[in-house]
Amino acid sequence: MTIVATPQELKDYLKDINKSIGFVPTMGALHEGHISLIKKARQENEIVIVSIFLNPTQFLKGEDLEKYPKKDEADKQICKLSGVDILFFPHAKDIYSEDEVSLQAPNVRGYVLEGASRPSHFNGVLTVVMKLLNIVNPTNAYFGKKDAQQLHLISLMVKQMFMSVNVVGVDTLREKDGLAFSSRNIYLSKEERQEALKISASLYQAGRMIGKNILDTKQIVEKMREILEPLEISYVEVLNRDFELIRHVEISNTIILVEAKVGSTRLLDNIWL
Ligand code: PAJ
Repeated sequence: MTIVATPQELKDYLKDINKSIGFVPTMGALHEGHISLIKKARQENEIVIVSIFLNPTQFLKGEDLEKYPKKDEADKQICKLSGVDILFFPHAKDIYSEDEVSLQAPNVRGYVLEGASRPSHFNGVLTVVMKLLNIVNPTNAYFGKKDAQQLHLISLMVKQMFMSVNVVGVDTLREKDGLAFSSRNIYLSKEERQEALKISASLYQAGRMIGKNILDTKQIVEKMREILEPLEISYVEVLNRDFELIRHVEISNTIILVEAKVGSTRLLDNIWL
């Protein structure tokens, strides 16, 4: 595995490589969820590139940028063992400069759900992903469905900016008990981790209701909110895959999303039905 630190070095390295490239952008603190993206990229491409960059612009003031878990050495080992060819590990000074051209998330879909509680978050995500995609110029780029709104907005950006990368959404990987893998899970105490299971439990319940042909989203959301008690809920929403609110579940075109706080940790999860 080759580790590359600067955008120019990576561009030079890739200049004469005429192979399909699968790219997995991450912020490090790698876990099984990230590994599942890398595995998929490995299956579908000749070259696999992973980036680790804790992107400052997607964190708002007072968020966990400073205490975000850092595991550089373990991350390198994980990448090596997962068959990554190139690990791109840039410094912020090589990605950002003063007085930048900026990218703005769409006014509606960028400012609901996650974007409502974290305004400007998706501006930072889209900006860094655009930069990374331009540096790597991959054939395929892999993003988790766990961050459904992020995946949706990146797909929109690629389409609306006429970029040529193929965006691939990868299913959420969960622990055996249902908790979705997340870099933020390490903030949870033992008791909080147990409480956090209410999130996946509420989504499974929604799945069961839909299985029984209960398609009224108000009824589903009410039941989910009951299960989530007493967690502090930021949102429980039922959307179609264009991220529009719907009153009735559309089979094979629906995403149910939850964000809830467990202790002081905000956790996201969703189910695609
Ligand atoms: P990060 O949180 O490190 O996640 C990197 C990728 O892993 C994202 O596409 C995310 O959706 C995916 N992922 C996280 N948990 C997962 C799980 N349990 N199962 C499957 N995939 C999972 O998301 C970011 O970084 C950043 O916003 C980034 C896109 C890198 C831009 O900075």
